[in-house]
Amino acid sequence: MRDWVAPEHDPLVLVRGEGAYLMDAQGNRYLDGNASIWTNIHGHGRAEIVSAIQEQAAKLAHASMLGFTNEPAAALAEALTGCFPPETLTKVFYTDDGSTAIECALRMALQYWQMEGEGGRTRFLAFDRAYHGDTLGAASLGGIPTFHGRLGNLGVPVVQATGMEALHALSSGEVKQLAGVVIEPLIQGAAGIRLWPPGMLGELRDWCHRHDVFLILDEVMTGFGRTGKLFACEHEDVVPDFIALAKGLTGGTLPLAATLTTKRVFDAFLGDPAEHRTFYYGHSYCGNPLGCAAALANLAVFEKDRVIEEVLPETIAHLKGRLEEWAGEDRRVREVRQCGLIAGVEIGDGSGAVLDAANRTGARICLAARKHGLLTRPINDTLVLMPPLCITAAQLDDAVGALRKALDEVVTD
Ligand SMILES: Cc1ncc(COP(=O)(O)O)c(C=O)c1O
Repeated sequence: MRDWVAPEHDPLVLVRGEGAYLMDAQGNRYLDGNASIWTNIHGHGRAEIVSAIQEQAAKLAHASMLGFTNEPAAALAEALTGCFPPETLTKVFYTDDGSTAIECALRMALQYWQMEGEGGRTRFLAFDRAYHGDTLGAASLGGIPTFHGRLGNLGVPVVQATGMEALHALSSGEVKQLAGVVIEPLIQGAAGIRLWPPGMLGELRDWCHRHDVFLILDEVMTGFGRTGKLFACEHEDVVPDFIALAKGLTGGTLPLAATLTTKRVFDAFLGDPAEHRTFYYGHSYCGNPLGCAAALANLAVFEKDRVIEEVLPETIAHLKGRLEEWAGEDRRVREVRQCGLIAGVEIGDGSGAVLDAANRTGARICLAARKHGLLTRPINDTLVLMPPLCITAAQLDDAVGALRKALDEVVTD
């Protein structure tokens, strides 16, 4: 904040968006290289989504879901559950953002086990360098020292694991204390765009089945086409017990989130009020009709444009080609990590070693890229490219070109 409020700091004020571009108050145009913090899906100002929001706003902008429902919320629940195999994730709970979607899954899982007479299941297993949001429960799952170090043992009790070996090493007593395992499937975002080994998600699903521990998938970043399929879990034919969706749910237009779960979990919450099975969790704007209308329009555009079937395979392959080319020509590229249209380019010192984080090279490169028409944020020295799915091949070339020019300016070979 010191640097932000410094008199010489001139913040970039964004005033308009169009497709993969954002415009600032001075009329400069930039490619939205991180899809406005991983939210935007079909581009800014996508007409169908804008109209859906406008039409819904004229009808009903908001009404409580405490004892009521609304048409878009009901239709969206049906559409979302329809994205998964029949009789699996059939129940939907709305919240506001990725953090609360995760928080809701944690609370539901904990209460489920209490009501089933297994109140000793109070811990969650989460992974090293995980990021699941900022509310206290979600943050306590986090494994990134910079973000989560200060929290220490506050929040929910968590068992940190580095990978499947750590799960296999748990004693049966330790397993019996687990309410669930939480993971960002296929790829960890905030950790620096880090991929899990192929097959790991399927193995984790089997482990959770074997031990009757809930598998909670955080698809807040990976959901809605980013990995090349609508949801990352489809790559390994995995269906979890809970899935958290947010960010791209509304195409990146409005804050809305959903936690999907199974009939098994839902049924445990049924009963006479005196049994105290109520799930006391709900926010003022849960199931907001504008967000739900936007989310329905977002899903409709996926179908209309055949985004998963026809658009993404080519776009993803194009990005892969460009990044491989760059890595092949430039010793300063330490590693390229890509999953679908999520990519991280880690910059090193030219000899394969990592850079000194104190120099904030990644941040300086991303700042320099603005002059070349690209907005993105790094994670330490990993440059992130996670554009809207509608980005064209030529725009991808421009985005990669902007990073390459910026790298040349900031790090001399
Ligand atoms: C994997 C993952 N989970 C949860 C969150 C938190 O989402 P939100 O910022 O909408 O609360 C994020 C945000 O970046 C995320 O990447």
